[in-house]
Amino acid sequence: MDSIVVKGGTPLNGQIQIAGAKNTSLKLITAAILTDEPLTLTNVPRLADIRTISDVMTSLGVEIAQLEGGRVMVMSAANLTSHKAEYDLVRKLRASFQVLGPLLARTGEAVVSLPGGCAIGARPVDIHLEALEKLGATVELRDGYVHAAAPNGLKGCEIEFRFASVGATENAMAAATLAKGTTVIKNAAREPDTVALADCLNAMGAQIEGAGTDTLTITGVDRLHGATQEVLTDRIEMGTFMVAPMIAGGSVELLGGRLDLIPCFADKMVAAGAIIEETPLGLKVTKGDGPILPVDAKTEPFPGFPTDLQAQFMAMMCLSNGTSVLEETIFENRFMHAPELLRMGANVEVQGGMAKVHGVGQMKGAQVMATDLRASVSLILAGLAAEGETIVSRVYHLDRGYERVEEKLRAVGAQIERVSA
Ligand code: EPZ
Repeated sequence: MDSIVVKGGTPLNGQIQIAGAKNTSLKLITAAILTDEPLTLTNVPRLADIRTISDVMTSLGVEIAQLEGGRVMVMSAANLTSHKAEYDLVRKLRASFQVLGPLLARTGEAVVSLPGGCAIGARPVDIHLEALEKLGATVELRDGYVHAAAPNGLKGCEIEFRFASVGATENAMAAATLAKGTTVIKNAAREPDTVALADCLNAMGAQIEGAGTDTLTITGVDRLHGATQEVLTDRIEMGTFMVAPMIAGGSVELLGGRLDLIPCFADKMVAAGAIIEETPLGLKVTKGDGPILPVDAKTEPFPGFPTDLQAQFMAMMCLSNGTSVLEETIFENRFMHAPELLRMGANVEVQGGMAKVHGVGQMKGAQVMATDLRASVSLILAGLAAEGETIVSRVYHLDRGYERVEEKLRAVGAQIERVSA
């Protein structure tokens, strides 16, 4: 199993190319099920999660051609051979559950394994299922699988989510594109990934209005057609690399970076002492002269502070010159990086969904263990400033969502390498 070894203390300077967004790509890939014509995606990141969703699609009979080393994917669902997404694939990647809405809308039937809980929380799918029932599907849970059927097609309806779930919004929106009549989704997710999916579906002939607001209006159409869509910049990879020069010192230009994708996070970075400039190629983030200042943050749906950047922000707050309070409201168990940061000399008190982070002047390298994707990268970030060597094990979590993170950081001066055991 691979580990990442980081030696702290070198400032970072240079440019980092931000990849296409993992969470956008995963949803755009599943949209290919909705049409018998090819859907082409460009700027797809090369990640383990993309390989897993591709396996799910292939298992359904979708043909996939990968061009330009995987950056371009051409998918054809002309001959779907199955409407069942098996447990062995879905358990590896929760986002596989996003085939449910497209399969149901296209074939009138879908059997998809329940994804189960995961390290960051229970993550039920009740909101997804209620939405599909409102659209006229019958939904049954049997043998660990969701069996959904709408033999006479789905029907437009009004859905009001109790929580603006990203996945449920995307499943319901995708399904509603082929429903008869108009569907209105209230309290919909406004995440850039959700907007990107709406843009892709519209390019395929769907009629979706209101993407990026909390109300989506989807007028059903008889069929969708092929399209070519570019995957949006990964705002979470971008936020992660914004933290890196704050922790290590220096100045890094993030190619393809866009402030509008993480407005609240960018404000918090500035409050902590980052200098952020928009450049013709993206964003430049420089650590200001003073210390890292303590900043409180509470995770919220977009445009609030993203839960997927909370671990990285905590790594930075561990080095602030005061106490900050981080509140996690999206997932019930997303502070697993805290005990690992403590091993590096951090001072963090976790109580339920709150973490009180008392800044320490210096962290120390240690052997630490990645518990999930964002936790693993927070440990690498902490290692950039720690005295001595930090060894992060279980980095398969990292490879699910970051493309060559060690190469990108090494190119701007970090002392970091991957070691295969
Ligand atoms: C997406 O997960 C992202 N994943 C997550 O990114 C991200 O953390 C999350 O949105 C929030 O921004 C992908 O896009 C593939 P939700 P999703 O449905 O869709 C509860 C990463 O690190 N809920 O908005 O699963 C749920 O349990 C990952 O890249 C229900 O109760 O998020 C959670 O507490 C991790 N019932 C909250 O809502 C439901 O039916 C948010 O979930 C659905 C969700």
